Amino acid sequence: MRKAIIAGNWKMNKTPDEARALVEELIPLVADAECEVVVCPPFVDLCPVSKAIKGTNIHLGAQNIHWAKSGAFTGEISADMLKKFGVEYAIVGHSERRRYFGETDATVNMRAKAALENGITPIICVGESLEQRERGETDEFVASQVRGALEGISADDARRVVIAYEPIWAIGTGRTATAEMAEETITVIRKTLRSIFGNDAAETVRIQYGGSMNPQNAASLMAMENIDGGLIGGASLKAEDFSKVVKYR
Ligand code: PGA
Repeated sequence: MRKAIIAGNWKMNKTPDEARALVEELIPLVADAECEVVVCPPFVDLCPVSKAIKGTNIHLGAQNIHWAKSGAFTGEISADMLKKFGVEYAIVGHSERRRYFGETDATVNMRAKAALENGITPIICVGESLEQRERGETDEFVASQVRGALEGISADDARRVVIAYEPIWAIGTGRTATAEMAEETITVIRKTLRSIFGNDAAETVRIQYGGSMNPQNAASLMAMENIDGGLIGGASLKAEDFSKVVKYR
């Protein structure tokens, strides 16, 4: 049985004060959640949010992680820095990172490995563009992203990763993949995992859907056999909406 995991990706939103206020509003709303609840605020908000969630069922995630321990990497953040704040998850390879900041499968792979080596669970994002979907290239492309991200990772480590399937055309557009469409591609992802790591690991890995997931569509997406959670952007910025996604049942 895979435990569902709903994570909020706040992206570049919320100052430290706003972040604290949001998470304080969220704490009582999700206290009785059955799934694992994660929030991924901007780096400067990790400190106030980590203090606010102490002793609650909310887990902390970061929006990125660098592969080096330290050094001349302006604008980046290391696993050691994240661990100081109790960060347990790190989003890697989000399509916005790939599109605007030149992230590739190779850098995603290095970031994922650094996370795993430091006991941080990478949430590895994959997903096709609208053009790729229309050309019928989705399955092949997404499978290649999964293979690239997990290159050189052992089956034991692979079991711990979370994969987020986020079709680029559904992110922030209000256009969600239908539950069936998401399930279909997520099944391809699980098949890809099976071919690399074997059945056991493939059945253990949690795979989220992401892209305009909200209180209205969460239940139908989560009803799918292979969808184990969600990576939530816009709807995670309002405590009430996010709590409704968390309590999708
Ligand atoms: P969205 O973002 O929910 O606003 O579409 C999801 C994401 O980019 O992780």
